[in-house]
Amino acid sequence: MLTWYGDASVQIADGAAAQGAVNPWVALAYLVAGVFFILALRGLSSPQTSRTGNRFGMIGMGIAVITTLVTHDIANIVEIGIAIAIGGIIGFTIARKIAMTAMPELVAAFHSLVGLAAVLVGWAAYLNPDAFGLLVGDSIGAVSKVEMGLGIAIGAITFSGSVIAFAKLSGKMSGSPILLPARHLINLGTLAAIVVLTAMFAMATGPEETFPLIVAITVLAFAIGFLLIIPIGGADMPVVVSMLNSYSGWAAAAMGFTLGNTAMIITGALVGASGAILSYIMCKAMNRSFISVIAGGFGAESGGSDGGEPREQRPYKQGSAADAAFMLEQAEKVIIIPGYGMAVAQAQHALREMTDLLEEKGIDVKFAIHPVAGRMPGHMNVLLAEASVDYDKVFELEDINSEFAQADVAFIIGANDVVNPAAKSDKSSPIYGMPVFDVDKAKQVFFIKRSMGGVGYAGVDNDVFYMDQTMMLLSDAKKMVEEIVKALD
Ligand code: TAP
Repeated sequence: MLTWYGDASVQIADGAAAQGAVNPWVALAYLVAGVFFILALRGLSSPQTSRTGNRFGMIGMGIAVITTLVTHDIANIVEIGIAIAIGGIIGFTIARKIAMTAMPELVAAFHSLVGLAAVLVGWAAYLNPDAFGLLVGDSIGAVSKVEMGLGIAIGAITFSGSVIAFAKLSGKMSGSPILLPARHLINLGTLAAIVVLTAMFAMATGPEETFPLIVAITVLAFAIGFLLIIPIGGADMPVVVSMLNSYSGWAAAAMGFTLGNTAMIITGALVGASGAILSYIMCKAMNRSFISVIAGGFGAESGGSDGGEPREQRPYKQGSAADAAFMLEQAEKVIIIPGYGMAVAQAQHALREMTDLLEEKGIDVKFAIHPVAGRMPGHMNVLLAEASVDYDKVFELEDINSEFAQADVAFIIGANDVVNPAAKSDKSSPIYGMPVFDVDKAKQVFFIKRSMGGVGYAGVDNDVFYMDQTMMLLSDAKKMVEEIVKALD
């Protein structure tokens, strides 16, 4: 959030010394906003309460924005109104148009804006410290300079990292890890240089000394954001999305310190901490070391979504919707594993219909959701909730994986990497170590995808296609399920 003040001589109430302590009502309103943000996070932790959580977040943000606007001595409210209107229209239009499957790249793009805003606020404060209430005597206080340096550094890392994540997720650049030689040494050296330069910046006085230092911090931080994200690829991208989410929160918190705005500090810290917790959870789900991933793909040696070597032709069995319907009717227990392809095809409603029909026939149907299925955290849960699938039929990986041994049918719809046994056995696979569903233990496996040529996100072949008990149902997921529904009817 960049606010432009027309008259630099006005002691802006956003300045560190001027707000909060002066007006206790402002502090109280920001506290209430903070409580709403915490309730929002609580609500967003489960699909049942996520809508309420979203509303709490909107109320909290409304309180924070209105408080800032009405209680601060803002020189040009019209300019701010115009900026909010333009941003609001752009955001509204994008949100209406965006496909659910393109959400991660949109989130990455938005994170880059948060990072850039932090860099610009930091630079604005450096160039006009008086307007931000940061002057101690003639120069900027040392603590303010540390906050400024950190804010600019975190913001720049968030910006360049998010731009690379956007390019990788949207397919504008290769999703494969790009591994530079001696990358850990380069990364470590660059991070150490940023810390040393920030300390020097805090101690320096006068523009001749401080200017080259702040330029160097900015340039190196842009570079390290780029260097940290390019070695991450393949199946590790979910962690990058949540990690950048966390960085954008810390960047906002750092901006809050520069602007002396407690609401921004609270919100930034909440986003930063929740993003870090989510990254940790994702790493656990992927069986990856958190430190390794944030250190820039430590240990990543291969893999990527390019498909690699042409695959050998192996025999497989193909079936039709009528075959699938016939076998489903004989089953007692069916476990459905949705993945990214279900989202692409928007097959969730047809799938719900199929589930209803099977249940009417007395068949036990459950949904198995992998933590990284789809392209964003909770992707499958959101789609199934949209199709009104009962929450109590939806199970996490660790709660359902042992049940495949008793299942008559493992019904894989648009999933691939999350059922790939190479994750358990092939050390050279980019998904090695990631826990996957034990679909091979089910009596029958139905695998819906469009063609044998298509690969999952990690770009690797899948032995499940060629198992004796597997029947490939090659079609668009929605079309195939609609045909199965017709056949069941
Ligand atoms: P994927 O491994 O990406 O496999 C998707 C499958 O869907 C492919 O086999 C594809 O084959 C099929 N498909 C695509 N469009 C289809 C359609 N219209 N109808 C039917 N099938 C269709 O999906 P997954 O198993 O959900 O795994 C997710 C992967 O994405 C993991 O590697 C994960 O690490 C990565 N990732 C996840 C996230 C988050 S946070 N969830 C973020 C970024 C990356 P065809 O092309 O042959 O149809």
